[in-house]
Amino acid sequence: MQGLFNLSVNVNGTAYDRAVEPRLLLSDFLRHDLGLTGTHVGCEHGVCGACTILFDGQPARSCLLFAVMAHGHEVTTVEGLGTIGNLHPIQQAFMEAHGLQCGYCTPGFLMTLVPFLNETPDPSEEEIREAISGNLCRCTGYKHIMDAVKLAAPKMNHQTLPRKD
Ligand code: FES
Ligand code: FES
Repeated sequence: MQGLFNLSVNVNGTAYDRAVEPRLLLSDFLRHDLGLTGTHVGCEHGVCGACTILFDGQPARSCLLFAVMAHGHEVTTVEGLGTIGNLHPIQQAFMEAHGLQCGYCTPGFLMTLVPFLNETPDPSEEEIREAISGNLCRCTGYKHIMDAVKLAAPKMNHQTLPRKD
């Protein structure tokens, strides 16, 4: 169809080809076109961090990217981390340390923390605070999130990225 862009992108280890409108946000592409609703949208202008995904392994706010910008790149969403029966260590730690309440912010925290913990295996309190400073949580008061990060740090085992089935 005229005006559409033929987007080829790898998401969570799977290649997708889709014709998309150039104005489509990456967050909307993931949620609406691919059905990956684990990526949440809160503010939709880059403030809250709820929409954080990995873009070629680095955290990025999917509400600030157009889907077409992901052409030829690798995207990882929270669905690529683990499953109910096979949680990623960071997910396990959030569960054990009660690092979430409503859970709306959680995917963004997880996707921010996976690369951080792999680059900083033994983070200080200050480094953790800095790492999550771009993610907002309206429920937890952050203490349990801090606890979860400390719990996860020694268990990461360089498990950087998506679990591949
Ligand atoms: S929804 Fe993207 S930063 Fe808030
Ligand atoms: S757990 Fe509810 S916003 Fe963070």
